[in-house]
Amino acid sequence: MSVKTEDLKKEKKANRLWAYKKLGFSKLETAELVSAMNELLANYHVHFQKLRNYHWNVKGSDFFDIHEKFEEQYEEAFNNIDEIAERVRVFGYQPTSTLKEYLEMSEIKETEKELTGMEMVAEVLRDFEILLSYMVDVADAAIEVGDVGTEDMINSFIKKMEKSHWMFTAFASNK
Ligand SMILES: [Fe+2]
Repeated sequence: MSVKTEDLKKEKKANRLWAYKKLGFSKLETAELVSAMNELLANYHVHFQKLRNYHWNVKGSDFFDIHEKFEEQYEEAFNNIDEIAERVRVFGYQPTSTLKEYLEMSEIKETEKELTGMEMVAEVLRDFEILLSYMVDVADAAIEVGDVGTEDMINSFIKKMEKSHWMFTAFASNK
């Protein structure tokens, strides 16, 4: 290896270390972002349990469609929830972790009466809209502190949920 290449390599390494340090955030810097992620986490958990409820209890001619599609949704919710909570840990905070807190914090509420399959779909669509607004809050907070990692994570969740919103809307439409 020539001296020049060696120097270049060293310089690159030095820059990388410097860049990495620049990517670190103080606890104070991420406080608002973490709070937005915890709000999203609470809503996501209630939504997750609603999907399980509907997956188990749906009846009627749309049973197979709804039963299967809600399973796909709760699997996605399960994975996203885990990513959000672990992102909170990355910043040195503890994610909100109890059902009691989720129920208190969540804007998404459980449904009390028995719903028809299409009422379940409408309810899930409303949940998506609430979740999307909390996701946008997380994206805004991430952009505010220049946190491209969280921004990237949340953007992928938003894109997927928007697509699901379109699909469920099309399924619920009778035109
Ligand atoms: Fe199942």
